[in-house]
Amino acid sequence: MTNRTVLITGCSSGFGKLAVNTFRAGGWNVVATMRSPEKEAELTGLEGVLVTRLDVKDSQSIDAAFEQGAAAFGSIDAVVNNAGYGSNALFEQSPDASVRDIYETNVFGLMNVMRRALPDMRERGSGRIVNVTSMAGLMGLLGNSVYSSSKFAVEGLTEALALEYKPLGVRIVSVAPGAYLTTAFGANTDNYIESGDPQLVEHSQNVRDHFASIVSGGTPQDPQEVADKIYECVTADEVPVHNPVGADAERLSGLIDSLPSRQAFVDAMEQMLLPPAG
Ligand SMILES: NC(=O)c1ccc[n+]([C@@H]2O[C@H](COP(=O)([O-])OP(=O)(O)OC[C@H]3O[C@@H](n4cnc5c(N)ncnc54)[C@H](OP(=O)(O)O)[C@@H]3O)[C@@H](O)[C@H]2O)c1
Repeated sequence: MTNRTVLITGCSSGFGKLAVNTFRAGGWNVVATMRSPEKEAELTGLEGVLVTRLDVKDSQSIDAAFEQGAAAFGSIDAVVNNAGYGSNALFEQSPDASVRDIYETNVFGLMNVMRRALPDMRERGSGRIVNVTSMAGLMGLLGNSVYSSSKFAVEGLTEALALEYKPLGVRIVSVAPGAYLTTAFGANTDNYIESGDPQLVEHSQNVRDHFASIVSGGTPQDPQEVADKIYECVTADEVPVHNPVGADAERLSGLIDSLPSRQAFVDAMEQMLLPPAG
């Protein structure tokens, strides 16, 4: 037993739930947080796992979860900011309330958790924070522009904070998953592809159809890869700041690194992702 403790957000499903079991298997105590812990069946009562409420938009719930975690296990050694969701829509199709809520969750909610975690870690001179971003935080993903921009924000925040906090002993990194068939792109995703005037609806459909035609087929990626990468980012001695995970995200990241300029990358994406002019 390492007797170390990780707090993870968004553990009701997907990568968060898998990460709870991955850390547990590695001998960690886990504060498995979620918005509705009363609905949780699998994780509740497991030894070394505290299931508790945390809504990233509710600072009181964040304080309470950290306090309960510390009371149960001692200090929180690592935090995984996993909670988040997206939307399928062109920018003009996205209602302002949806845009703001995505930012409240993916960006400001994540900042709320970091604000609570960092002072203790800084005081102890140690700690790890993993921010789950997305392949859409490495490239401007058309058809998911608001989500993409929220994940770019977190990639930038992570890179800046990695520099700010390294001298203080706290390591902050991102994990950028490719596409996985969790609820993130199903039930947990806002969908506005039918909104707006006929030109917008048609353009949205064309973008989506073309995208589907180039990514269709192939075996779905295993979301356990993401949980394993998160675990590695918390436990390995040396970890890069940016960590794409999944064959698709790794290919994309390799392409960005191999091309001579960012514009060359944007040109390549235009060739690949824009539907042929009709
Ligand atoms: N799946 C993919 O292909 C993919 C790719 C790249 C990045 N990601 C990112 O990976 C992360 C996890 O997603 P997933 O794929 O595992 O999907 P998921 O199964 O939908 O998990 C998302 C989790 O976030 C939680 N959540 C949403 N809003 C919250 C809030 N205000 N406070 C606390 N928790 C909140 C959800 O809780 P509820 O059950 O209460 O809604 C759920 O537990 C997200 O940040 C997502 O953007 C996913």
